[in-house]
Amino acid sequence: METEMKSVDNLVDNEETYEHAVDILKSGGLVAFPTETVYGLGAIATDEQAVKKIFEAKGRPADNPLIVHIGNQSEVGKYAAEVPEVAERLMKAFWPGPLTLVMEMKPGVIANTVTAGMHTLAIRMPDHPVALALLQKLQLPVAAPSANRSGKPSPTEAEHVYHDLFGKIPLILDGGATGIGVESTVLDVTVTPPVILRPGGISKEQLEELIGTVQLAAKPEDQATTPRAPGMKYTHYAPEAPLFVIEPDAAKLESALKSIHQQGKRVAIIGPDELHTTNADWYFSTGAMHNHEAMAANLYKAIRQCDATEADMILAIETDLSGIGAAVMNRLDKASNGKRFS
Ligand code: TXA
Ligand code: MG
Repeated sequence: METEMKSVDNLVDNEETYEHAVDILKSGGLVAFPTETVYGLGAIATDEQAVKKIFEAKGRPADNPLIVHIGNQSEVGKYAAEVPEVAERLMKAFWPGPLTLVMEMKPGVIANTVTAGMHTLAIRMPDHPVALALLQKLQLPVAAPSANRSGKPSPTEAEHVYHDLFGKIPLILDGGATGIGVESTVLDVTVTPPVILRPGGISKEQLEELIGTVQLAAKPEDQATTPRAPGMKYTHYAPEAPLFVIEPDAAKLESALKSIHQQGKRVAIIGPDELHTTNADWYFSTGAMHNHEAMAANLYKAIRQCDATEADMILAIETDLSGIGAAVMNRLDKASNGKRFS
């Protein structure tokens, strides 16, 4: 299959491109598109055969359910059996935006493959002009995971999608780099208090300011039963070389570099501007220290840049857990499989 990449990130008339995208989706095909978090790989969520193609293209395990994207808040009632009062408040405050709500699903509407047989549905309204234009023209719900091959970091640029899914999908809408850079927060509102299944673009602090206490889901290995966010059990975002998290301390970094080089290994570093060191074989900056937003925006690209090097290992300099820092460190925990350099 030929993969077309069409820019919609400009002021020219994109009508034809959107029509093309709508045609592909309506005839059961896949289209990758930008959202404010990461690029998504979309299929019409009521079309079982189309949704199956997403799992094939990504190499995604079938027991990991997808998020349904809608273009208007009012559509929620078509797919959710019950919209709790707390969900209404959250949608009003954070939609369109990087918050996915897990609710009881109305049976018989969304394709079974989307929810991997669960009775709940994850749903969000993205805050990106391209995603919204597409959804509003389509007037149908779109199931869309991140548009990467399973196990790769989520794509924050159309080029990343092309790299991973070239030849497997017909169309990528190129809307430039995504803004937030980590995925949406997944919040289960079927329970009280609500539970964060995946930290993301909306922070725990932001949620709690609006609705009071929310809980963080236990790590999969600490859960007695099946994890509620099935995706949590997979090691996501695993780079090619082993990745270790390290403290933001220049002296510790230099001594780590020295000992790694003594073993004859080459190392790539992901870290803030301030800790840049010429002793690293590669250094990919994620912006100013303590700027969590910049780190979120640049992290996945930096991991992909590390993958493109000959590094034998990667050191990622940690940040604190406030705000979107929690989502950033959650992704680094996964990428490192819990490994720290000490
Ligand atoms: O920002 C995002 O959320 C991006 C963009 C494209 O919207 N999408 C994304 O989708 O990250 P994906 O498939 O990579 O991650 C969806 C997450 C997975 O961890 C999955 O297990 C969880 O949402 N999920 C989906 N449906 C669920 C459900 N019914 N109950 C619990 N977790 C669910
Ligand atoms: Mg994903």
